[in-house]
Amino acid sequence: MNALVINCCPVRNGATAEIVSIIYHELNATFQAKAVCISDYSFGFCNGCRSCHKAAECVQNDDFGNIIAEFENTDIIVCVAPSYWADVPAQFKAFIDRCTPWCNTHEPHARLKSGKKGYSVALRTGPNMKECEKIIGTIEHFYGHMEIECCGHLGLCSVEYKEDVNRHRAEIIAFCNQIKKISKGTLLYLKPANTNDIEKEFLFVRDIPVDENGYINEYYGISRKDFDNALDTIIANSRGEKLPEGYVPMTSYFLWNNDTIVGKLDLRQYLCESLINGAGHIGFYISPEYRGKGFGTEGLKLIIDIARNVVPEEEIYLRVNKNNPASLKAMLKNNGYIHHEDNESYFVRIKK
Ligand SMILES: Cc1cc2nc3c(=O)[nH]c(=O)nc-3n(C[C@H](O)[C@H](O)[C@H](O)COP(=O)(O)O)c2cc1C
Repeated sequence: MNALVINCCPVRNGATAEIVSIIYHELNATFQAKAVCISDYSFGFCNGCRSCHKAAECVQNDDFGNIIAEFENTDIIVCVAPSYWADVPAQFKAFIDRCTPWCNTHEPHARLKSGKKGYSVALRTGPNMKECEKIIGTIEHFYGHMEIECCGHLGLCSVEYKEDVNRHRAEIIAFCNQIKKISKGTLLYLKPANTNDIEKEFLFVRDIPVDENGYINEYYGISRKDFDNALDTIIANSRGEKLPEGYVPMTSYFLWNNDTIVGKLDLRQYLCESLINGAGHIGFYISPEYRGKGFGTEGLKLIIDIARNVVPEEEIYLRVNKNNPASLKAMLKNNGYIHHEDNESYFVRIKK
């Protein structure tokens, strides 16, 4: 399978390029990936002449043909666009306009091979996700008329320079894992806690018991009204903000099977003394109705893949209650080994 990752920004070494590079490297481990920048191509604006409405091709003959050839050649398309005045950069908008011969609102129109999957990533300097959603909307509108299936998107706020991308690395890698899963037809994937999925996240978190086999949920039974603030805190914690004294930054992921949340997994981004001798890096919870289906083992594998790139320690630390053999089994299946034990728990480690 081929994957095309597009830097929709004219800057070749900025934040967008950094995100493109992470996505390219992640996808290239599984697919034949290629990264391009919209500035690699030189093409004219759409003149609005509408000749293409009759001829299904453009009257201009320029570099545009080379970029559309990349679209034709690929199965997976990932457009990564920064906000320029709350929209996609003009260079990318000019490209979209030139795709009018392919637009499915008029006949005849040119057609890409069917079955292509499209993903969108938006980034911006400001803190509000609404603007990212607007950019994602522009890209997904474009995909829709090109008959490219919209399969997922990611919005990244508070990113101005490429150094700011590092804070989002785990999120970007999780997004790539989602792309891999969807494209391979297996639909179990991790998604960081986010405001787009708040209704499903609320119902899931509300029902996780306060303490089940050592997985602690301070939000058990929470009201929908209070969950707005709770989610805000959960997301802030992943950035190292709003943390109680002595706590380390923690990213909370939901484990999705297709469009249903089946579990919640938390990654503590590094260890402090109490975590070294206690809960370790990862907490995981699978909803009772989805147990015994391998979701624990698979979900753990997904979060371990992320942890490998995030935690600075040599090994990934886990702890499991002795009366929870299913979780121990999931850890051992993921190459965990029992490092030591006490009366209640096994302390498991996984080499990075
Ligand atoms: C011309 C221009 C317009 C921008 N407009 C916005 C904006 O409306 N909202 C915003 O949050 N960021 C805006 N930004 C910031 C970019 O989205 C942000 O810096 C992004 O990381 C740039 O990606 P780059 O480093 O790949 O160029 C703008 C940047 C430029 C250069």
